[in-house]
Amino acid sequence: MPGTRDATTPLHVVPVAGAIGAEISGVDLAAKLPAETVAAIRQALLDHLVVFFRDQELTPPQLMAFAARFGQPVAYPFVKGLDGFPEITPILKREEDCINFGGLWHSDTTYQQVPPMGTILYGIDIPPYGGDTEFANQYLAYETLSASLRRVLDGLTAVQASGKGAVRKTRSGMMAQAPAGLKGDELTARHPVVRSHPETGRKALYVNTAHTTRFDGMTEEESRPILDFLFRHQVKAEFTCRFRWTKGAVAFWDNRCSQHNPINDYHGFRRLMHRVTLAGEPPQ
Ligand code: SIN
Repeated sequence: MPGTRDATTPLHVVPVAGAIGAEISGVDLAAKLPAETVAAIRQALLDHLVVFFRDQELTPPQLMAFAARFGQPVAYPFVKGLDGFPEITPILKREEDCINFGGLWHSDTTYQQVPPMGTILYGIDIPPYGGDTEFANQYLAYETLSASLRRVLDGLTAVQASGKGAVRKTRSGMMAQAPAGLKGDELTARHPVVRSHPETGRKALYVNTAHTTRFDGMTEEESRPILDFLFRHQVKAEFTCRFRWTKGAVAFWDNRCSQHNPINDYHGFRRLMHRVTLAGEPPQ
């Protein structure tokens, strides 16, 4: 039962797929977690790239307190956060909405100079079916390329833009609330195509179909054939897992080595999540 578990109970970490994702039980995220529990969750995140928890009850202050144990919460640039909690972004698709927020494969806000290391998503209103989120392992995406292509990609930088057409549409419903009148197409950054994870040291592919527009020093037309290949390759089924949401579930993913894709297959139902991102470091 939420709120009654002993925060020091040993964690159970059970993989949900071969490539990515593990479900953790035996922890109440609303409790004041001991340092060793925080360290165990962080290790599970490093090992599995995304971790899931069920049956949590997190008020906004409790969600913020949990997030702050893992890093510095930062606000999403284009959508106003909750009153009093600017770093909590409500992700809402109403019964009458057609578009879901972020509804294509991506790593979060790679168009920022310093993109977030991780994201925590808490499920509040969950449709009776549909609205799952997929995740893909970008270490495997990199490691399964030929040595020759890896050598080429290792030396490249890519341009990441917030205004790429398809992704702009996925946030159009929530943009009315953009802070400081931002339009959603003004942020760009250049990041390595292959980044080294600062904690594990492993290399991960760091392009994504939502935000990556071209290789630095090449035109979009020149970049497109290889980027299109990478966008297909990096989300092959064998690199992925799929999370079925339940009320009170939490997903915590590492944006430095994974991508995610919220599936828009629940028209007519409401889905409300609270989302917190954690500050990262410049990709290298
Ligand atoms: C996101 O991309 O942050 C939203 C994920 C989701 O709604 O499942």
